[in-house]
Amino acid sequence: MRVLIVDDEEVALNSVKRLLRWRGIRSVDICGNGKEAINRIRENDYDIVLLDLLMPDVDGLQVLEATKPYRPHTEFIILTAIDDIPTTVKAIRMGAYDYLVKPVDNDLLFLSIKRAYEHRGLLIGLSVSARENQKEVPEAFNEIVTQCPRMFSLLSYAQVMAASGNPVMITGESGTGKELMARGIHRAGAAPKGPFIAVNVSAIPATMFESQFFGHAKGAFTGAESAHQGYFEQADGGTLFLDEIGELPLALQAKLLRVLEEKSFYPLGAAKPIWVDVRVISASNRNLNKACQEGNFRLDLFYRLKSAHIHLPPLAERPGDIPLLARHFLKKACAQHKKDVQGFSPEAMELLNGKNYPGNIRELAQVVENAVLVADTNFITPQHLGMAHTALSPFARQLCTLKENDEAHLAFVLMNTNGDRNRAAQTLGITVRQLQRKIAAMKKNPRWESILRDI
Ligand SMILES: Nc1ncnc2c1ncn2[C@@H]1O[C@H](COP(=O)(O)OP(=O)(O)OP(=O)(O)O)[C@@H](O)[C@H]1O
Ligand SMILES: [Mg+2]
Repeated sequence: MRVLIVDDEEVALNSVKRLLRWRGIRSVDICGNGKEAINRIRENDYDIVLLDLLMPDVDGLQVLEATKPYRPHTEFIILTAIDDIPTTVKAIRMGAYDYLVKPVDNDLLFLSIKRAYEHRGLLIGLSVSARENQKEVPEAFNEIVTQCPRMFSLLSYAQVMAASGNPVMITGESGTGKELMARGIHRAGAAPKGPFIAVNVSAIPATMFESQFFGHAKGAFTGAESAHQGYFEQADGGTLFLDEIGELPLALQAKLLRVLEEKSFYPLGAAKPIWVDVRVISASNRNLNKACQEGNFRLDLFYRLKSAHIHLPPLAERPGDIPLLARHFLKKACAQHKKDVQGFSPEAMELLNGKNYPGNIRELAQVVENAVLVADTNFITPQHLGMAHTALSPFARQLCTLKENDEAHLAFVLMNTNGDRNRAAQTLGITVRQLQRKIAAMKKNPRWESILRDI
């Protein structure tokens, strides 16, 4: 490993150099000013650059800007004197791998270097493997049905990141397959046989967080009659999937960060810490950058969790996947409901292709399943899709507005869920409150009133 340390303080340079040598890194160069650093980094293939932000003349940000494009595989770790978040954010946006606040904790520094080094190795491997694996879904991800090139390259990225054991953050709209992706990463990782514990963070009451995550000892509080294993302990040797991570309260964010860094924690009321080996995958359908800016999500935790980031595109941005997925879900629904439907009529497929899916793949799956349930022929026709009136005749189709189309779909989904507002909202990819508002509006229309009255 080749490391360059850039800092205008000589004391800092030498002490960090000594530390790295002591930990077995032989090739460590030092450099006392930004201008020289730019030349050195451009000319040498350093694995890692430790970069001080505050330097006279040419500062760390300028060094990064002038070198990262030339050395995309060199990883930069930013050292910042004060906790200067805005500049640090800029540095991370410009491609720095991590940042540490001075005075730097030796263990943290070393950990960060180790991770950056792994990351670099993976990236170099990735640029080769991404090209090789263009056409197929890696084995661990075989539940994911796709033929979209963008998904293929995400999957090979996920495959490589899975091997690192580092935290992965998955973002994407509702129903884009975040959990499916998380399970794939778990299977592609180092401990595919270990447990996969999925926790929906938004479903845990605030008062229960600590004991749910970290467990408690017997007698830790009134009513704690026996010891309880928290999610972290349950996931030991495997994966902890934190869904809706944006809902984690601030106090817990600090604790989670500590577990990620120290790999140990204290259950409530326990005298001794527990050490765990857990890979954390988090998911969110919200933009956490904004939450960070507003102070609702800790930036340091954000970067820890997002050591690899996978953003799943909405279904609308996966050309060619709708027919493929529709046939996949048709087969699944036929097996599940013991029906024998062969396929889709061209008109039905055309409707499926032209539809909006705010609930993405989950919604498409539901639409197809519902169609299979009501199908009385070998092929799914527009009638079975609950969009019959759009296909009565070309003339009728022209008359039918988009709004009516959506309303018919909503009524259809409600009927198929026996009026269950939660399930219907989930299928439609909207909130229960939005659904209720739509129902109220539709009830004013005589056309729907009689249908909606009973459900
Ligand atoms: N590419 C795919 N191929 C096959 N099935 C898929 C695909 N993507 C998603 N699904 C299916 O769609 C449904 C929704 O997927 P999943 O639960 O992973 O989405 P999500 O992004 O976690 O949604 P939410 O944000 O609502 O939690 C699941 O039943 C999943 O099996
Ligand atoms: Mg999910």
